[in-house]
Amino acid sequence: MTSRTAVLAHAARLARHAPSILNTQPWQWRIGRHTAELRPDNARLLAQVDPEHHLALLSCGAALHHAVVAIRARGWDVAVDRGTDPLARITLAGTAAPEFTDLAAAITHRHTDRRPFGAQPPSGEIIADLRRAVLPHGFDTHLVRRDEVPLLAAATARAASDAAHRPGHTAEVAHWASGGSSAGGIRPVPMRALHGPATGDGDIGARYLILHGGADREWLRAGEALSALLLTATVRGVSCSPMSELVEAPWPRGLLATLIGGAAHPYLVIRIGYPVHDEPPPAASRRPAAETTSSMFTGALPL
Ligand SMILES: Cc1cc2nc3c(=O)[nH]c(=O)nc-3n(C[C@H](O)[C@H](O)[C@H](O)COP(=O)(O)O)c2cc1C
Repeated sequence: MTSRTAVLAHAARLARHAPSILNTQPWQWRIGRHTAELRPDNARLLAQVDPEHHLALLSCGAALHHAVVAIRARGWDVAVDRGTDPLARITLAGTAAPEFTDLAAAITHRHTDRRPFGAQPPSGEIIADLRRAVLPHGFDTHLVRRDEVPLLAAATARAASDAAHRPGHTAEVAHWASGGSSAGGIRPVPMRALHGPATGDGDIGARYLILHGGADREWLRAGEALSALLLTATVRGVSCSPMSELVEAPWPRGLLATLIGGAAHPYLVIRIGYPVHDEPPPAASRRPAAETTSSMFTGALPL
C-alpha cells in the first residue's frame, strides 16, 4: 500500500460529503497506486427526475472537486483528465505546498440549508467572493435582481407542478427522499417558495445565483464549479440550497436562459442567505466508504 493510495482513498472518503441530487450520491471511485477513477453509479441514476443524467453528472462533478480539494490540502499536486468512461481520472503528480486547506476543512461542515433565511442579505463582498469561486472552472453566475424574483418564483412553482404530474416522478422522489435502496436519509424538503421583497415573509434576505456556462452539456464541470461555490460559502459562513427544478425540464431552463441573457447556458440556481436560527441544519446521511470505493488491486483500501 503506497502513501499515494492512502491519499486517494482519503479523498474518496471525504468526497462522500459532496452534495447530490436527492442525496443519491451517484458515484463510484476505483483507487489504484497513483490514480483514482470516477464513474457514475448506474444503480443510483434517476430515470424520471433526471432522465438525461445531467444532475447525476453535476453531483459527480461536485464529488470530483471535493476529492481534488482534499488531495491538494494534503500537499499533493494532481492532474485531472475528464472523459466519459471514466468520467474523470485523478493522477497524483507529486508533492506540493498545501492549498485549499480552508475549503477542505469546510467539506464536513457544509450542509444544504432549506430553512427560511432572515432579512440580512449576504454582503456585496461575500457575493462577489462566491461568484469568483466558479470562474476558474469556466463558469459564471447571474445574481437574480430583486425585481426578477417573482418571475423565478412563478417559474419554480410551475416547474414543480409540471413535475408532479409526470408519471413516476413523485414516486421516484419519495423513494429517494426516504433514503433510497440502501442509505438512510433525511427527507429533502420541497422547494422553498420564493418571496418578493414586499411580502414581509421569511426569506427576505435570500439572494439567488444562477450558475451558468458558455458551453452546453458541461454538467461535470458545472458540478465542480458548484462545489467551489458551496465550499467557499461555508468558509464565509453563508448558507446555501441548490435548486434544480428549474433545470430539470426544457422550458424553465429556457426561461432561466432569458433571465441571464446572451448565449449562456443555465445549470443550477443556488439560494444563499442566513438562516433565522443559528444552529446548523441536520446532516444528511452518507453511504459507507466501502460502498462507493473499490480497489484496482487486491488488498484492502485504507478507508
Ligand atoms: C445537482 C443537485 C441538485 C439539487 N437540487 C435540489 C433541489 O432542487 N432542492 C433541494 O432542496 N435540494 C437540492 N439539492 C441538494 C441535495 O438534496 C443535497 O445535496 C443532498 O440531500 C445532500 O445533503 P447535503 O447537501 O446537506 O449534504 C441538490 C443538489 C445537487 C448536487
